[in-house]
Amino acid sequence: MGTGLMVEIDTSKPHPARMYDWYLGGKDNYPVDEAMGRQMLALDPRVPVMARVNRAFMHRATRWLAEHGVRQFLDVGTGIPTEPNLHQVAQQVAPDARVVYCDNDPIVLAHAEALLRGTDEGVTEYLQADVRDPDAILEGARKILDFDRPVALSLIALLHFVSDEDGAHELVARLLSELPSGSYLMVSHATADFTPEESQAATDKLKAAGVTLALRSREEFARFFDGLELVEPGVEVPQLWHPELGEPVPGQDDGVIPGYGAVGRKR
Ligand SMILES: C[S@@+](CC[C@H](N)C(=O)[O-])C[C@H]1O[C@@H](n2cnc3c(N)ncnc32)[C@H](O)[C@@H]1O
Repeated sequence: MGTGLMVEIDTSKPHPARMYDWYLGGKDNYPVDEAMGRQMLALDPRVPVMARVNRAFMHRATRWLAEHGVRQFLDVGTGIPTEPNLHQVAQQVAPDARVVYCDNDPIVLAHAEALLRGTDEGVTEYLQADVRDPDAILEGARKILDFDRPVALSLIALLHFVSDEDGAHELVARLLSELPSGSYLMVSHATADFTPEESQAATDKLKAAGVTLALRSREEFARFFDGLELVEPGVEVPQLWHPELGEPVPGQDDGVIPGYGAVGRKR
């Protein structure tokens, strides 16, 4: 595997990074991930479309930020590399963009090498850390990013794995607290607002397999942006956030996408 590091992969229970890889058609997943992925598909066959719509939101939000002058990104909950990765989108607009990736799953660490290949001018780095330890993330990111200049904090499809008991909103506020004015927050998040029954069934199945799923309402999602200035169009379903910046995902309009996306600017 990539880094040449010895990492221990727990294949006894499903992991969000590996299930997501399976939805996206990747090869870095195990039978236990596929089995749980199939259970999710039985509840809603559109899950793979949702994963692609989420990924496309990340691409468009990154592009928007790079086009608006952002040159530094801190992406927590990166996932298994899937091209194009965030640094490739950012560096296509701004070859000198610096990107720090961070995830807590050892499988992402094992594949981190693919995240570290960037342009000659740009910098990419990988930190193995848990978002529930924001101080460790800030300490690591500070070594690569200049905290006197704006940073985009990217939390894409991450926070629904962090419960209120673990202080999801407080963690985001802590991460933002060290970033200067003009920094941004980009978030996408799953919700039960549109499909409550299927969402409850998915939450229960994942919980039984040891995976926390903390689905949040529109209001709870919007609270991550308290004190920030929301970029137009504000909180939206992800496929309707600046659709002009990318191609539509096949099938995205054939049914509900139960999620929200938004970008906010720190004053
Ligand atoms: C659904 S994937 C999203 C990947 C990527 N951000 C995207 O949207 O395409 C969620 C990622 O969050 C990571 N993750 C979950 N809980 C985490 C935590 N407490 N700290 C850091 N990463 C976490 C998982 O390992 C996984 O890679």
